Amino acid sequence: MPEHQFLVPRRVRAATMTRIDKLIAAMTLEEKIGQLNMVAAGLTVTGPVLAADVTKDIRAGRIGSLLNVWGAPEVHALQKIAREETRLGIPLLIANDVLHGHRTIFPIPLGEAAAFDPFLWQRSAAEAAAEAAADGVAMTFAPMIDIARDPRWGRIAESPGEDPWVGARFAEAKVRGFQGAGLHEGLADVKALAATAKHFCAYGAPLAGLDYASTDVSERLLREVYLPPFAAAVAAGCAAIMPAFNDVAGIPMTVHIPLLGNWLRRDLGFAGVIVSDYNAIAELLRHGVAGDLVEAAAAALLAGVDIDMMSGAYKEGLPVALARGLVSVELVDAAVRRVLTLKERLGLFDKPFGRGSMSGAAAPGRAERRAFARELACRAIVVLKNDRILPLSPNLRHITLIGPLADVPAEMLGPWAMAGNADVAVTIREGLAAALPKATIEFALGVGITGTDVSGIAVARECCRDAELVVLCLGEAANMSGEAASRANPGLPGAQVMLADAIFDLGKPVALVLCSGRPLMIAAAAEKASAVVAAWFLGVEAGHAVADVLTGKFNPTGRLPVTWPRDIGQVPIFFSMRQPGRPAAPDDHYTSKYLDMPVEPLFYFGHGRSYGRLALSNLRADKSDFKSGDQLTIEVDVSNEGPVFGEETVFLFARDPVASVARPLLELKGVGKSALRPGEGGTVRFDLAAHELSFPGSDWKPVLEPGEFLLFAGTSADPKQLLSIKLRALPD
Ligand code: BGC
Repeated sequence: MPEHQFLVPRRVRAATMTRIDKLIAAMTLEEKIGQLNMVAAGLTVTGPVLAADVTKDIRAGRIGSLLNVWGAPEVHALQKIAREETRLGIPLLIANDVLHGHRTIFPIPLGEAAAFDPFLWQRSAAEAAAEAAADGVAMTFAPMIDIARDPRWGRIAESPGEDPWVGARFAEAKVRGFQGAGLHEGLADVKALAATAKHFCAYGAPLAGLDYASTDVSERLLREVYLPPFAAAVAAGCAAIMPAFNDVAGIPMTVHIPLLGNWLRRDLGFAGVIVSDYNAIAELLRHGVAGDLVEAAAAALLAGVDIDMMSGAYKEGLPVALARGLVSVELVDAAVRRVLTLKERLGLFDKPFGRGSMSGAAAPGRAERRAFARELACRAIVVLKNDRILPLSPNLRHITLIGPLADVPAEMLGPWAMAGNADVAVTIREGLAAALPKATIEFALGVGITGTDVSGIAVARECCRDAELVVLCLGEAANMSGEAASRANPGLPGAQVMLADAIFDLGKPVALVLCSGRPLMIAAAAEKASAVVAAWFLGVEAGHAVADVLTGKFNPTGRLPVTWPRDIGQVPIFFSMRQPGRPAAPDDHYTSKYLDMPVEPLFYFGHGRSYGRLALSNLRADKSDFKSGDQLTIEVDVSNEGPVFGEETVFLFARDPVASVARPLLELKGVGKSALRPGEGGTVRFDLAAHELSFPGSDWKPVLEPGEFLLFAGTSADPKQLLSIKLRALPD
């Protein structure tokens, strides 16, 4: 059987012909290829190829789906052409990048990940879906579930961070939220969107952190780190998958038969739609694996890519590829069937105008959504350092706010906020002013986000003269992270370091608030600041949320979903590293360390401070010996020893200290939370199936090797504070 044969489902007999069978039987080749053709409709540009007037091609049946269009009137006008003016009346599929909210912009995914809360992740997806669907959208290119361990790569902002276990939970929650879990009609509900898990795969590991660059990851790394979130998305019923722009060891993902065909389609049984990334099929020519659009189109179809986004390669190339016998019409039909099946599952044949019932801006529940955006933004904030200056004293009368990120609404939204409206975003200045009506808040810009003009620094210093405390808002512009936004030196850009030093020199307490789409290299500033707060890009409620955390109205709960390096030279740095034969030892020269800086990160994965003191004790398991089919219960006690209500996040890690393949020092196996009043105690419980302690063996099947296992619980991956117990796996 040729490798691509599993792409073609068995033929159906005429007597049982479904709506889709009948349509396929009636379609011309041009109409079939039209269903595989996705084109941008002109509202916004997210790639190098520009959108054109699409109405003529829709009318001729040459376009099956559109991206970058929203708004009920716009979408319905296009849908009307498809339904009423084409030969077969097949509805259009309208897709958009709904990454972190649609009109109501939520925190960027990296920030949202810091909440470590699948219920919130699911809810924000459901809210975004309802809003986008009210705007006529039926599909989102999300969740983005690329594991990212390199802050040079700007798309780390869109990702759930460094860990595959978190990535998998994030993937499931997002798929459920977008696709209408709990809604009466599921995916067909007019509040649901088809989810697209992207970018498949290893896109987060580009060489040198350069966007779109090659990745060269081992099969073990793929199996242990990059594939699990996609497996989780598929298991949760994800409707679509987008192959990444990059090649993996020389094979561009758009034509990667071993991963797309064999792993995803055959092994996982993924029967949904595979949609190429923007212009990616045509870019196969630049990758040097296709000589022309005909070869490119044939290779992508053979790998199982159903929809060609924006390259026109299917339109131009597939007719010739068919004539040359490079692909069969059965393969085209199978791709068309998957696209039509998705349209049917979305309810588009029966209710083509169901979504877009009203403008997304006016969609019901807007006030509640806004309140939710504030809660989510609060939970995304990570207090990295606090030398007891936070929460701000209610008696403060004079605060000075300095910095280029303090008062720019558009920068609060972050990358991928296409339908967002900067006019309704709350800045940090506005948020603080609302939260502290009795305090005088002076403001000076100091310097721009980028640029070399330092003439405002003197004014900023002057402005701080009477201040009891300075809130310094520094960081990146929103467009400095996201796609095509790699930074070789992801520190504070422009003259911000100079500004910071000039302010620190005044000797006043400084709370440094960082806006960024990635961990920034700020070791020196973090040392000098009395408090450091990671505020990512928090969305429309950014300013209120930052004020809620700074004033203590919200006791911070955010924890780092990614290790925060001291310096870019430490990258890649992540908690699940393997131990070398010569682990770092300060007094031993020939060990694994740097001559010029510590090996430890600035802040560990999971790090984050709250106002208060919660302590962990008494880690225990219900069995000390177990077999592979067993279920384990792990518990750890938490007590609130501080004066305020607080919530702790507890991480459960495992290590298999002796195995046939060296295992990471720590692997995340669970996350729990405990919210306690002062003086109160509680218990966090983890249900752990023993098979979750297995790893991919030599045949890549999971293996649980008998012997000792270590389990750890802690409030971060910092090894110094982990509690541990030993268990033993017995032979089955
Ligand atoms: C990005 C995708 C996005 C697509 C459509 C591409 O450039 O890589 O993440 O979904 O554009 O906007």
